[in-house]
Amino acid sequence: MNSYTITFLPGGERVRVEAGTTLLQAMIRAGLHPNAPCGGKGICGKCLVTLADGSRVPACQTPVSSDLTVTVPQGDRARILTRSLRAETRPDGDNAYVLAVDVGTTTLVAYLLDGVTGETLAQASCLNPQGQYGADVISRIQYVMQTGPESMARCVRDALAGLTRQAAGNAGIDPQAIGAAALVGNTAMHHLALGIDPKPLTTPPYMPRVRQTMELPGGELLPIGGTVRVLPNIAGFVGADTVGCMTATRFDRLEELSLLIDIGTNGEMVLGNAQGRTACSTAAGPAFEGAKISCGMRGADGAVDHVYLRDGRIEYHVIGGGQAKGLCGSGLLDLVAVLLDLGYISESGRLKDKAFQLCPAVTLTQKDVREVQLAKSAIRTGIELLAQTRGVPVSRIEAVYLAGAFGNYLTPASACRIGMIPPVLEDRIRPIGNAAGEGAKLCALSRAEFAYSQELAQHTQFLELASLPRFQDMFVDCLNFEEEEP
Ligand code: FES
Repeated sequence: MNSYTITFLPGGERVRVEAGTTLLQAMIRAGLHPNAPCGGKGICGKCLVTLADGSRVPACQTPVSSDLTVTVPQGDRARILTRSLRAETRPDGDNAYVLAVDVGTTTLVAYLLDGVTGETLAQASCLNPQGQYGADVISRIQYVMQTGPESMARCVRDALAGLTRQAAGNAGIDPQAIGAAALVGNTAMHHLALGIDPKPLTTPPYMPRVRQTMELPGGELLPIGGTVRVLPNIAGFVGADTVGCMTATRFDRLEELSLLIDIGTNGEMVLGNAQGRTACSTAAGPAFEGAKISCGMRGADGAVDHVYLRDGRIEYHVIGGGQAKGLCGSGLLDLVAVLLDLGYISESGRLKDKAFQLCPAVTLTQKDVREVQLAKSAIRTGIELLAQTRGVPVSRIEAVYLAGAFGNYLTPASACRIGMIPPVLEDRIRPIGNAAGEGAKLCALSRAEFAYSQELAQHTQFLELASLPRFQDMFVDCLNFEEEEP
């Protein structure tokens, strides 16, 4: 079979591939980390590259049939959430340095801590390079099921090794001096990073292959001197990241009836307090992460992240200033809320015209509005059914903790205006930042915290929403946008 040389600009990377290989596959082989939210299915239109004649083509749909020079987009400076609430603990003090690692679907963060004082000495973050195999976890699991777990595990481990060295370098220490680490991630990220077969996550009852805590030797997983503590999972889509959030909030000691929500491609949530806790997961889809939205993008430079009304006129804010390039999740939520207030979108979700143009680069289509309806209905359905299961009306929820990047940047009033969160809860919303990462920090610092995370996971009831007879009806009921708060 013929093979051809592909040269990528502006970096000059070169790779030789067989005829028929797609440009996306060639980019991955060349060590680039292309943005491919749909995993190369040709749906999202986000993998555009420029050929020598100036034409722009989707890399995943373009097979190679000659030598080519291709210009690829330069990586956006992504906005990565590293701050969080601060939970106090007493460090064991037997390691001079410890590391906490948060393996998110979109981003990876590593925190290097002083093992005696608990102080954060350095941190490093990057986009999860697994994004080249798809923005959502299902695309990545499908990739692993076709090709085996090694390349996916290697991809994330290489990135984590880089972050560990970077954080250690910033603090002026040798990574081998790190005596313990703790790792959190959703169940799919947990399995993919550890090289565990993720197939059980794709079929009912969607249970993880591994639920309990694990303690693994460093080296293979992270280039550190000590062992790696891996937090436990609760269910297939309620993972160690949720357990990390519960650990950081001391969820089983809360007196107030509290709702913890971490919104990503899944909305993972827990409702309860010291009297008991129930968790569920709802398939929110990647709309709030920019995928499946015509002008959607990650929260990075050029993304419209907030839209608001001033003197009756629509205004917006762009991350990093400058020209708007697209719309990230928080901007999308705001835009829909504003257009609802102005009557451009009806309560049933119909857009007045074919599309609404916010600025030259950002247009909202009817299909986009429908995607928002599906995503917000999934989350609202989860909240309503959790409350029903625990036998309380949603109005009795006293605190809503929003974890994760989207939850931290969204405007609570917009989330309530579109009905994603019940409007009655608007003034009880508290963003808690990267609480999963905070939970990992606690477990890296203290064995007692690590044991506590296992206890929390064990004593949290899991609710499989899709198995409830009222799930479908509730989902349909929640599709409409709500009236403003009654
Ligand atoms: S269209 Fe190519 S990755 Fe989605």
